[in-house]
Amino acid sequence: MALINENFLKLKAGYLFPEIGRRVTAFQQQNPEKATRLIRCGIGDVTEALPAAAIQAMHEGVDELAHRSSFKGYGPEQGYAFLREAVAEHQYAGLNISADEIFISDGSKCDTGNILDIFGKGNRIAITDPVYPVYVDTNVMAGNTGDADASGAYEGLVYLRCDASNGFVAAPPAEKVDMVYLCFPNNPTGAVATRAQLTAWVDYALANDTIILFDSAYEAFVQDSDVPRSIYEIPGAHECAMEFRSFSKHGGFTGVRCAYTVIPKTLMGSTADGQKIPLHQLWSRRHSTKFNGASYPVQKAAAALFSPAGKEQVAALIQHYMGNAKLLREACQTAGLTVFGGENAPYVWVGCPAGKTSWEMFDAMLHDAQVVITPGSGFGAAGEGWFRISAFNSRENVEEVCRRISALLA
Ligand SMILES: Cc1ncc(COP(=O)(O)O)c(C=O)c1O
Repeated sequence: MALINENFLKLKAGYLFPEIGRRVTAFQQQNPEKATRLIRCGIGDVTEALPAAAIQAMHEGVDELAHRSSFKGYGPEQGYAFLREAVAEHQYAGLNISADEIFISDGSKCDTGNILDIFGKGNRIAITDPVYPVYVDTNVMAGNTGDADASGAYEGLVYLRCDASNGFVAAPPAEKVDMVYLCFPNNPTGAVATRAQLTAWVDYALANDTIILFDSAYEAFVQDSDVPRSIYEIPGAHECAMEFRSFSKHGGFTGVRCAYTVIPKTLMGSTADGQKIPLHQLWSRRHSTKFNGASYPVQKAAAALFSPAGKEQVAALIQHYMGNAKLLREACQTAGLTVFGGENAPYVWVGCPAGKTSWEMFDAMLHDAQVVITPGSGFGAAGEGWFRISAFNSRENVEEVCRRISALLA
């Protein structure tokens, strides 16, 4: 009998979104007359059509595949040069990141999970609480934790509590960790870190030989010009940080699948006997061995987002979602709730009315307003008492959600 990876058995009651799906399905079955009113602001999935420039480029890519003379089979595992160069030029101008430090993939979820392949056992790993659950669960699967306690916290992980008192931005811990996951703009809280806060993290990482795994999947939503979009805006980050970015939210590619990971050649890990090894080399090898590249038409479409027309269309898309975020923020504030996020991120992070837990608020919104939100406790113990509303929706739906929030909480 084949032995299994028993670390999977440590995972707590499934991923958050299956539980939301289960409750929504049960509600729909029990309340068919109300089910048609349902508006989903739960999972952070985009709703609007792809930018026209991406559609056109994807069509062109498909047409090229239709002719022997322009047909393409396997592409470079690390991504086509045209896309790596476009990312370097348009996303990292002036930040000293070269095209060959950018690895194209089919998603940041995969990248943030797969990256653990290149790290050894026994690392002390810090995550924020609340957190994007993928960072935690992939570490559990990789055997980097012990069991979870009653609050869902895994033995062996260092939890950095984020709450209203620190504006949902964790400061570096007093203890030394080997790796830390940071996500700004943050999912789920919508918080952004200032330049000073990120500088404190980079200084900490350099002093402690810590690798920062910086997830900026929501970089495109930053509105304030003084909020850093990339960790590489901070001096010293090229020696201590890798960065994950995605076209999922930037260009509405959640169903198309394209992302990238940046690993500067100056970023080093260590062998047990203290020899420094470039992580770039390991990730490149991992990519070549376990991945065969993102599809050609998809990479064409991603590159088209950086054309002048593509940039304009992306800006309009972002403006649309951020307009939604503003309305949702205002509706919650008017209803007397405490609100974070939603200013440089497509997520509005809201305090539950006094006495309500996150799941009680989820059920109230589902049963009494037919609005699906995400309970904050699903992102970690520190998320208890909060809920997340996603701004990914049509304007019409968001306006209706705002009316229902007012009616529910009036
Ligand atoms: C913080 C964060 N990172 C990564 C991802 C995954 O992105 P992708 O669609 O590229 O897999 C998400 C998706 O919701 C996310 O919220």
